[in-house]
This record gives sequence, structure tokens and C-alpha cells, in this order.
Amino acid sequence: MWALASFELNLLKSSCKGDSFEVSIDRLTIIQPDDWHVHLRDGEILSAVASITARVFGRAIVMPNLHPPITSVDQALKYRQRIMNAVPPGIAFTPLMTAYLTDEISPKVLEAGFLQGVFTAAKLYPANSTTNSNDGVTDIRAINSLWETMERIGMPLLIHGEINDIEVDIFDREKIFIERYLEPLIRDFPDLRVVLEHITTEEAVQFVEASHSKLGATITPHHLHINRNAIFNGGLRSDFYCLPVAKREHHRLALRRAATSGKSSFFLGTDSAPHVRSAKENACGCAGIFNALHALESYAEVFEEEGAIDKLESFASKNGADFYGLSLNTKTISLIKTRHLVRDTIEIRNPRGDLVEQLVPFHAGDYLTWMVELE
Ligand code: DOR
Ligand code: ZN
Repeated sequence: MWALASFELNLLKSSCKGDSFEVSIDRLTIIQPDDWHVHLRDGEILSAVASITARVFGRAIVMPNLHPPITSVDQALKYRQRIMNAVPPGIAFTPLMTAYLTDEISPKVLEAGFLQGVFTAAKLYPANSTTNSNDGVTDIRAINSLWETMERIGMPLLIHGEINDIEVDIFDREKIFIERYLEPLIRDFPDLRVVLEHITTEEAVQFVEASHSKLGATITPHHLHINRNAIFNGGLRSDFYCLPVAKREHHRLALRRAATSGKSSFFLGTDSAPHVRSAKENACGCAGIFNALHALESYAEVFEEEGAIDKLESFASKNGADFYGLSLNTKTISLIKTRHLVRDTIEIRNPRGDLVEQLVPFHAGDYLTWMVELE
């Protein structure tokens, strides 16, 4: 019936309805997934969120947009150690570090960090396009020596694909970035491996589908669940504000088709981006959705709704590793069908243990139907 080679199916119910046979499952086991795009932050937030990502994902590509950003091998090594210190003992988790590209960063630093196995990839933030991107790249065309080096050594380039021109309508910034910058970049550097991060538009889906296999894209759970109405539903809902901002419904549907298609260019990247509640609920609220708490369950919900639960494993556990040329995780993880209420907040505590702030998780106050089975 379903080609679910590596899935362990426990039939919850099976019944004859005329000629069709309805099957639903109450447990599914997949190769342990990886998160190919996450913000773990630093300090008290890192302490609160590291274990949440590490209990589910085997590896994660960690974003470098700290303050100050990660621009040297030494900074990356120290940050990797702080992440490892924040992961509880007994959890096997590998943070994969990234370099933050600036106008000044030297190709030699990238090459040294990549060849030493410290940097897995480099991240391009067009300057001032999103949170902590003010040190980002002001002119993508002016740093061809970086692209040449990365293409030669096989170092992936991860792109925040939005034009940083405030004259351009915020809902068009991804589409215009693709036309103006991404298309020429991959034409001029055909062997450069590129990930267009957190895609939000039908145009991005089509562009990735039409491109060669060296271009991949990550898709977040939130862009699969919400469209732009969520941000303005009965008031200003800062918990649904992120960048690139959620778009119209037809874009969300295109993203759902892409994610659940099984195509190897699309893979899991949560873009879980925690900001404390007071920074979200603020006159100038920060962009970012903290979805790590139930990210895998959130994706599972979408795949099941789309009748494609058999494709979840490729998207979550295979396609990204293949793109990065890494082996698949050897462990498996199970999801159980259990309707559960998502908690309203996660507590942030200082080193003395005092409650100092809160994070609001994606899906707070909603029910989800799948639950990761923790060991
Ligand atoms: O919504 C976002 N939040 N988008 C980004 O690109 C950055 C991220 C963050 O760091 O908070
Ligand atoms: Zn991000």
C-alpha cells in the first residue's frame, strides 16, 4: 500500500469503506533528523534552548548572527564549546558551525576554517536584511573572491535570500533577491553549492526546482503552517513575525507541495529563532519564531495533512545530509500519535536559577497530534 521501507507502522485502525481501505498509524519511526538551520543564541537563552534541539536532532547547522557575529575560526571553536556545555550529558549532538560573511572577511579564514572542519558552511546576510545582520554584506557582487574560494573548496554558501532595499515591498524581497542576485551568482559560479534558506514563495520553489542539484532550499515549519494573515489576526501578533515574512496563502501551499514532494533539493531547516517575550512584544518587536519545542511534530502534522507522511523521512533525515555530503544518522526516532496541548511558555533562568524571561513557542496553546517519543 505505502512504500515505507524504513517506517515502522502500527496500525491504529483499518476499516473497509466501499472499495477503499483506510489506514492510519499511531507510531512512526524514522532515521534521526538534523536541523539544517537553527539559532541557538548564547548565554541564558542558549542554556534554555540547546537541549530542546539536541534531544531530537542529531546535528544542526548553527547560525552565526550573534552579537558580535562569528567571523573567525577561534570564535567558532569557542561558541561550539559553549553549545556543547549547554547540552545535557548523555545526549549525542553535533553543532555544525558557520561563518558570518562580512565585506571584510578573508577567503583565507573561510578556507582554513573549512579545511580544519570547524566551519561547515558560510552564511550570507545581506546587510540590514534581518536580525543581527548589520555587519552583513553590503554588495554581493564585490566579494567574488569569496565565491571563487568556496566554489573551489566545496564549501556551501547559505543565503538569507532577501534584498535589503527598504524601498522594495517587504513581500517582494525574496523574489527580487532571486532575480537580481541569486540567478547571476549561480550562473557565474556553477559549482558553488548554495542553500537558499527558509524559502517563502512560489517563485523560490520554482527557481530551486528548475536549477541544478547544487542549489538546495530549507523550509521552516512555520512557513508551512501560517500565511501572512496570522500576523494580523485580530491584532498585531508578534509571535508570528519572522523574516522572510510569511506570504500569501498560495505561497504557503507551494511550500507544502515542495516539502512533501520528496524532491532531494528540499530539506528541513527550522529557523527556530528565539527572542525573549519582552523583545517580541515591543514597539519594535524582533523577527523570529521559536519553533524548536515541537518542530518535528509540527512538520509531521503537515506531512500527514498532505497525505505524504511517507516522505517525512527524506525531508527531515536524508536530503540535507546528502546535500552536505554527510552520512545519515545511525539512530532512529519515533513519533507517537498523541493529541497534546502545547505549553504557553518556556522559562529562561539566570545562572542562579532565577526566572528572568520567557520564550513563547510556536503552536503555544494549540493542540498537535504527534509527539516525539523521548528516550
Ligand atoms: O526571523 C528571523 N529571525 N529571520 C532571520 O533571518 C534571523 C532570525 C533571528 O536571528 O532572529
Ligand atoms: Zn535564520
